[in-house]
Amino acid sequence: MCGIVAYVGHREAYPIIIKGLKRLEYRGYDSAGIALMNGDLNVYKKKGKVADLEQYLEGQKLNSTIGIGHTRWATHGEPSDRNAHPHYSENKNLAIIHNGIIENYASLKQDLENRGHVFHSDTDSEVFIHFIEDIQQNAKCSLEEAVRLALSKVVGAYAIVIISRDNNNQLIAARKGSPLVIGVGKDEFFLASDATPIIEYTNEVVYVNDLEIAIIRDNKLTIKTIENTDNTPYIQKLDLELEAIEKGGYDHFMLKEIFEQPKSIKDAMRGRINSENNHLVLGGLRDYMNRMLSTNRIVIIACGTSWHAGLVAEYIFEELARVNVEVEYASEFRYRNPVINEGDVIIAISQSGETADTLAAIELAKSKGAIIFGVCNVVGSSIPRATHAGAYLHAGPEIGVASTKAFTAQVTVLTMMALSLAQKKGTITESKFHELLVDLEQIPTKVEQILAQSEKIKYISQEFKDAKNFLYLGRGVNFPVALEGALKLKEISYIHAEGYPAAEMKHGPIALIDEEMPVVVVATKDNSYEKIVSNIQEVRARKGKVIAIVTEGETHIQKMSDFVIEIPATHDLLVPLLAVIPLQLLSYYIAIYRGCNVDQPRNLAKSVTVE
Ligand code: M6R
Repeated sequence: MCGIVAYVGHREAYPIIIKGLKRLEYRGYDSAGIALMNGDLNVYKKKGKVADLEQYLEGQKLNSTIGIGHTRWATHGEPSDRNAHPHYSENKNLAIIHNGIIENYASLKQDLENRGHVFHSDTDSEVFIHFIEDIQQNAKCSLEEAVRLALSKVVGAYAIVIISRDNNNQLIAARKGSPLVIGVGKDEFFLASDATPIIEYTNEVVYVNDLEIAIIRDNKLTIKTIENTDNTPYIQKLDLELEAIEKGGYDHFMLKEIFEQPKSIKDAMRGRINSENNHLVLGGLRDYMNRMLSTNRIVIIACGTSWHAGLVAEYIFEELARVNVEVEYASEFRYRNPVINEGDVIIAISQSGETADTLAAIELAKSKGAIIFGVCNVVGSSIPRATHAGAYLHAGPEIGVASTKAFTAQVTVLTMMALSLAQKKGTITESKFHELLVDLEQIPTKVEQILAQSEKIKYISQEFKDAKNFLYLGRGVNFPVALEGALKLKEISYIHAEGYPAAEMKHGPIALIDEEMPVVVVATKDNSYEKIVSNIQEVRARKGKVIAIVTEGETHIQKMSDFVIEIPATHDLLVPLLAVIPLQLLSYYIAIYRGCNVDQPRNLAKSVTVE
């Protein structure tokens, strides 16, 4: 939610910031803006995409070796030029970029207005910078001190960078709850919401922690806590290749990421499993495995697609490790005084590692004595740092707003966790354990076989591009796949879609079925096969159009469906890893046929760092 970029050093800041904003555009794309010290402290901003800002600035003299930039996902105030960041302070001495929400901005604003401040936007961020300047003037202190005092008074979440007209070799940044990374080059610094704008200049980064203030002045980085204690900057090496954040010949990041899944699933397993010697180790969990072994209850918390991965995991953990699992929306969990006992284990799943509700749910569970495991993709993000132990997905950067490869990597990692627990608890036999490892290792090749059918899926998509509604059905472990297929379609094509457990259809949704209704059914050969055949008959009897995901070689369902997509056979519990692939492609192609912007769907942002 909102991307921030800043630069100070010896190069031209403008091209670095614009390029960085384009890399961060997945975080928000309502408006964009930039502040530079070109003669004076100048702010340029525009409603729309970063490209609109770039076009607006064409031909202007923008030379400056320092600058800040922002791409917005609107929270306070509609998307407009005036609400775009950066925002000036009252005297235009300072400008700020801000990602997050200042919850007590209304009372601060009222107080400042009473004392003559005039605001030019509806944002909380403008209040924030007025407040800082006000403190600086009244307390007659340095900007650094004023920022520190202001931060002790604001309530909410922020990653901010401030530029000052008085010093063109100084940036002051801070974070609480929203991410901020500093790239350290030779006599230059790059600040951003994540490492993607930084990687082509340096691979040395400092992740700013919550309640830390970073002061970059005269080519030196100092980190202090909000209590004014010095913290030595901890420089880490980035493990990220530039090509991983580029489209690499694909039309969209989403398509690239769908096609990357044979590799990302393999990467999630790399060094962790080897069926030849029955080896399965998740290093990050080792120290806390005993807590997992002794627990009677695992609670999974997540949002969106990650929540769907959690639902798949519920079936797998319960089946293999015979432990009680509950799956919760993080946003519901955190607000309903959940019963958490000391022995409980929480698994928090998040691609970005920054989702505000998931983070808050973790803190709540921690305060009640639970042990928290994280399953995240973005290395160094907030959730892995807030958990006791965890396993990274190693799926590589996911930039398309619609999550695809993160889902399959999450299910892969969670399956490995369940298998490891089951083996240690003795709830599965060694032969079953071995069989599942072998099947898991074969998944990437089977995903490749499904991807090879993309032309066929594209053809089916064209048939249904004008549908108004879609129903997705699945049973057992494939019910969450139905939910995920429906979510993918909704978010990028804006077609209304619902996922249902197939057997629930007759309790209501069946009323929706007519000749206009496409019904996507995950109908693979497993122990609920006969039942799902009956569900398909029920849809047919009401003239619904059936698109069935079936096991390779299946002929019975072929005869009663309008379209079938075959997927290779695998262990029942691993089917979601395969069945979701055609559903991702179906939603992608339908969205393309409808002319939708699949990488930047309306109203969405990649990481939801606000409640
Ligand atoms: O980064 P997270 O996995 O915590 O994000 C959770 C959801 O915001 C995310 O999965 C969202 O639903 C995606 N747009 C789904 O494609």
